[in-house]
Amino acid sequence: MSRDFKSISVNPLSGNLGAEIAGVDLSGALTNAQFSEIRDAFHRHSVIVFRDQELDPDDHLAFARRWGEINVNRFFTPVEGHPMVAEVRKEPDQTENIGSGWHTDHSYDTAPALGSILVARVVPEFGGDTLFSSMYMAYDMLSPGLQKVLEGLKAWHSSRHVFGPNAGAETSRTGRIGNPDKATQDSLHPMVITHPGSGRKALYVNPEFTTHIDGWSHEESAALLGYLFQHGANPHFTCRLSWAEGTLAMWDNRATWHCALNDYPGQRRLMHRITVEGEPL
Ligand code: SIN
Repeated sequence: MSRDFKSISVNPLSGNLGAEIAGVDLSGALTNAQFSEIRDAFHRHSVIVFRDQELDPDDHLAFARRWGEINVNRFFTPVEGHPMVAEVRKEPDQTENIGSGWHTDHSYDTAPALGSILVARVVPEFGGDTLFSSMYMAYDMLSPGLQKVLEGLKAWHSSRHVFGPNAGAETSRTGRIGNPDKATQDSLHPMVITHPGSGRKALYVNPEFTTHIDGWSHEESAALLGYLFQHGANPHFTCRLSWAEGTLAMWDNRATWHCALNDYPGQRRLMHRITVEGEPL
């Protein structure tokens, strides 16, 4: 049973992004009023966090479906029996984790995922936090001159160099990342987008998947993108999430970057992720 709408509280994690939402049981059916409050918080804070949720994969899926269609990730190993839920796994004997570089999920798609919803299943005793950075702040803190230049530019995003056959994926990815033959799509997106939900402008490039600026050489692109990648990772634009089992976080892929810290050697971390379909930007 869902709790009363009035009991929802939204507590910011930092001044720029991230908020914990308390007073909601996501395993029950949300009322329209509750969902609307949660969606408002999502658009205001870009990363929303719910603690102590007891959700099975079907509950996780039901919550994701409130936001839209499911965008099934074609590279991550799915949870057994749940093809729409991706596993983000690191075993004690694995050295690499998934998502350790700053990135935006699915920016290589022509209609990038609106958001990702991660549920913590097994967390290490220490470490394994996720950092998020606000791309609204990244845009706002550029000079008006550079903002204007970027607003006239588009950039290419690709999955080939990360998930494709020549990505040189280390053996520790075996069993976690697959389908290299499906890493065929390159997508062109504006470098500055107007967010369809909040109406705010956000920088839309990321270090993992953005390859070059349209009409520019790779060398020319690297100079400007290198600056933007460093700028976007400014600690002042970030918040940090420490997970516990039962934590659910949803982040806005059009307004944030994230990176999963790989600082828990010899320990297990298992998360379930569902990505929600977006729209062309
Ligand atoms: C991801 O990059 O989607 C995974 C983030 C995490 O494991 O914290």
